Amino acid sequence: QEGGPTICGMPLKYVSLVTLAVQNAALSIVMHYSRVSTPASEAYSPASAVLLNELLKGTISFVIAFLRMASASDASNRGFLGWWSSLRRLCREIFSPDCWKLSIPALLYVVQNSLQFVAIGNLPVATFQVTYQMKILTTAAFSVMLLRKRLSSTKWMSLFFLAIGVGIVQIQSSSTTHIPARQEMPVGSAHESAPLHIHIMSPLKGFGAVTAACFTSGLAGVYFEMVLKNSKADLWVRNVQLSLFSLIPAILPIFWESSPTYYRDGFFASILHNFGGWAWATVATQVLGGLITAIVIKYSDNILKGFATSLSIVFSFLASVALFGFRITPSFMIGSTTVLVATWMYNQPPGKELVTITGVIPV
Ligand code: C5P
Repeated sequence: QEGGPTICGMPLKYVSLVTLAVQNAALSIVMHYSRVSTPASEAYSPASAVLLNELLKGTISFVIAFLRMASASDASNRGFLGWWSSLRRLCREIFSPDCWKLSIPALLYVVQNSLQFVAIGNLPVATFQVTYQMKILTTAAFSVMLLRKRLSSTKWMSLFFLAIGVGIVQIQSSSTTHIPARQEMPVGSAHESAPLHIHIMSPLKGFGAVTAACFTSGLAGVYFEMVLKNSKADLWVRNVQLSLFSLIPAILPIFWESSPTYYRDGFFASILHNFGGWAWATVATQVLGGLITAIVIKYSDNILKGFATSLSIVFSFLASVALFGFRITPSFMIGSTTVLVATWMYNQPPGKELVTITGVIPV
């Protein structure tokens, strides 16, 4: 029997890993569609999406942290004063002297969340999904540097294979330079017969953004794990601190964009400018992802998180075939398979790690 908290009788650790894999697949598709389905003049602002994400995630984490604190101190049986003292205690914890530690991953995650929009708007869904797996490499490197984790030669070898797999997918995608958005429309959707919006993709820009996002992902994830596991503070309090520090870098680009609508319509109305169903779906999926990621980092670790997200390649590919009529190429097959085999190798338990050309020799 697994230790740790459970949900409906199942270990939270595994429920969160599987949910994260599904969420990752959904996010690439929803985000990509939200960016390419409208002409540039009607596009929502990614900066607004990043800010709304942090506001919602922070609010949800605050409510969870408050309810947990109130139930621990049995506030409901002590009436208003009970709730009030829980609220004061929570605020003291949020603004504790070590809260500044969260400013580093907060800044990194805001940069990463913004880069994701650049990447997803310039690469096909499946290519983005596979290339983004490079974050397993950066996460491993930062785990070795910051958490002093030791990696066996098999694990390094699997990382090498992972890089090759990601490279193969890159090569096949770089040969496609301009892709009209209509190719990405759901099969049979109303948009299929709509006038063609030519959304010019720039794979070079997309790969640049995804590479930078891999670095911020690895560093921020490992740093968050270090802060979480080196202190007793509640996960949800840490999440509130993370969102609070994220608000500053998330709000700056909004003023920087300084669209005339900010002055004409007011701050909130202009943030929500062009925010349709797909934009809201993107933000909701990101919020869910942020919350699950925090749970995964707490109850598993960043390495297992990488495994879960690699699984999402499979989900995302199946969904792309069904929704966008995505056609599979042999190099995509080879690249994706290499990534998946490398991920499997990386997650082999100790004792099964000696690998030869013909298979795995138990030691
Ligand atoms: O791609 P990666 O797994 O690094 O993405 C992690 C995502 O989870 C980021 O969007 C980040 O903002 C979010 N996150 C969060 N709260 C945490 C940890 C990560 O919202 N505690």
